[in-house]
Amino acid sequence: MKIEVFTLFPDWFRWFTGQRHVTNAIDLGHEIEAVDLRGTTPLGAGQVDDTPYGGGAGMVIRVDVVEAALRERWGADPVEGRGSRRVVALSASGRQFDDSLATELAGAEELALLCGRYEGFDERVHEHLATDVVSIGPYVLAGGELAAMVVADAVLRKLPGALGHEDSAVEESFSEALDGAPEYPHYTRPAEWRGHAVPEVLLSGDHARVREWRLEQSRRRAGS
Ligand code: ADE
Repeated sequence: MKIEVFTLFPDWFRWFTGQRHVTNAIDLGHEIEAVDLRGTTPLGAGQVDDTPYGGGAGMVIRVDVVEAALRERWGADPVEGRGSRRVVALSASGRQFDDSLATELAGAEELALLCGRYEGFDERVHEHLATDVVSIGPYVLAGGELAAMVVADAVLRKLPGALGHEDSAVEESFSEALDGAPEYPHYTRPAEWRGHAVPEVLLSGDHARVREWRLEQSRRRAGS
């Protein structure tokens, strides 16, 4: 898949794209690129934002600035072409990100992530340029960059081959394999530490019992 991140801080993504599971995905032919929203602004002096109509604190990223960046990148009208790719605007007011949305986005050929700053985007970005408005949680970040990394991280690790161990992304917290429940607890050596022993069943070698115990623990964590 191809992930394009539209941001005022493309440098932030240099660290992210150097991480192992991201470089694994790139080696497999996937792409992730950060695009500077300021680079194509139609306004003078690199302006990208403006004061909000109706007054109030802070600045708002302009819709024509985002439109210009998408048009330049895709060589087409991003309003007319809406729906041909997934365009996710990151905003604290959006739909909450979860594992099923990560799985859905991982199935897309092309994914654009729009990072807001200041007070966020002009609402017309959400309504006419984005296909989704997504929040990573009920708190306000200084901008969408960290949220975009969270989304890209969760999506990339779903791609076949991006993790060293293929099973890791199948039976993990909130996955279908666990009926959406949190994952069961893990233990490794030593078998006893400061009087705290690893559950006996995990040392038994009885795979059926181990499986039953894990599912039970997962259900317990879900409170069901
Ligand atoms: N931008 C600011 N806060 C955010 C959040 N919680 N999720 C996504 N984007 C954001």
